[in-house]
Amino acid sequence: MSKPFCALFALSIILVTCHAQTLNTSTTCEPSKCGNLNISYPFWKKSNTNVQEFCGYPEFGLECLDDQAIMIFPTDRYQVTDINYDIHSITLLDIDVLGQPCPRARHNVSLHNLPLSFSSLDFNLSFYFNCSSYPSSIQHIGCMKHDKYQSYVFKTGDEAESNGFDWLRHCEEHVVVTVKQDEIEISSLITGFGDAMQKGFVLDWMRAQDCAVCEESNGYCRFDQATKQSRCLCSDGRTEAKSCKKGTR
Ligand SMILES: *[C@@H]1O[C@H](CO)[C@@H](O)[C@H](O)[C@H]1NC(C)=O
Ligand SMILES: *[C@@H]1O[C@H](CO)[C@@H](O)[C@H](O)[C@H]1NC(C)=O
Ligand SMILES: *[C@@H]1O[C@H](CO)[C@@H](O)[C@H](O)[C@H]1NC(C)=O
Ligand SMILES: *[C@@H]1O[C@H](CO)[C@@H](O)[C@H](O)[C@H]1NC(C)=O
Ligand SMILES: *[C@@H]1O[C@H](CO)[C@@H](O)[C@H](O)[C@H]1NC(C)=O
Repeated sequence: MSKPFCALFALSIILVTCHAQTLNTSTTCEPSKCGNLNISYPFWKKSNTNVQEFCGYPEFGLECLDDQAIMIFPTDRYQVTDINYDIHSITLLDIDVLGQPCPRARHNVSLHNLPLSFSSLDFNLSFYFNCSSYPSSIQHIGCMKHDKYQSYVFKTGDEAESNGFDWLRHCEEHVVVTVKQDEIEISSLITGFGDAMQKGFVLDWMRAQDCAVCEESNGYCRFDQATKQSRCLCSDGRTEAKSCKKGTR
């Protein structure tokens, strides 16, 4: 090892050791509830008090309003109706469409850089709103007529089958909505999309990159808001920089 590197290495060991403090995982990473939803690691419940440090992934903090858990994406807000800790999936519901019999989706779901991905249980619908012209052979959405404008819904991809008609050009807006496969019948999209949208869609979560090593050593990832740094909380109460495994910290 070169001298400067060696010094740096020694320094980092001292820093890590000095930073170790004793915390109790069962209290610090304790599960909580919001309505009927159990919230546990890597999810956590945001509290009214301004938490400086929490146990879980930073993006997975849930607000609890009127017994409803809300997850905030960079551009949208969703209600979390289920968290499955065995298969690592969550069910999300677009708050804008709640309780509407003929919901008009406003935006595509955008996962940004969140450690989330679409589930294989999902199904995509393509909406074309307020089309000024349209092939007469295709059935429009009855509840969305506006003057001479009509709106349409397809299983994503199927719109290409309408004899080369350019939907993007003739319609005001194109929105892709994800629903659960189980909740929609392809043969009755027009009458079924409203109910399906009220049931939400499923996303799988992945390990946050910074937390993988920690979790593999049976630790919990904690985040310090102020420094934006993750640390690893171990079952014996130690907090380590990366991992609870002896010899790797
Ligand atoms: C951690 O906290 C729980 C609940 O308060 C308590 O029962 C347990 O004894 C504590 N464990 C340690 C190691 O302090
Ligand atoms: C939530 O957790 C409690 C205690 O661990 C458990 O009894 C209950 O069945 C859970 N509820 C749900 C909806 O999973
Ligand atoms: C639905 O669309 C998203 C992108 O908008 C894509 O990542 C996902 O794979 C699609 N799901 C299905 C079942 O086609
Ligand atoms: C169609 O456009 C009108 C006028 O801008 C608007 O009020 C209506 O909500 C739109 N309909 C849809 C389904 O986007
Ligand atoms: C939604 O995504 C489609 C492509 O998948 C795009 O054509 C459309 O413009 C997007 N709509 C919005 C409102 O961003």
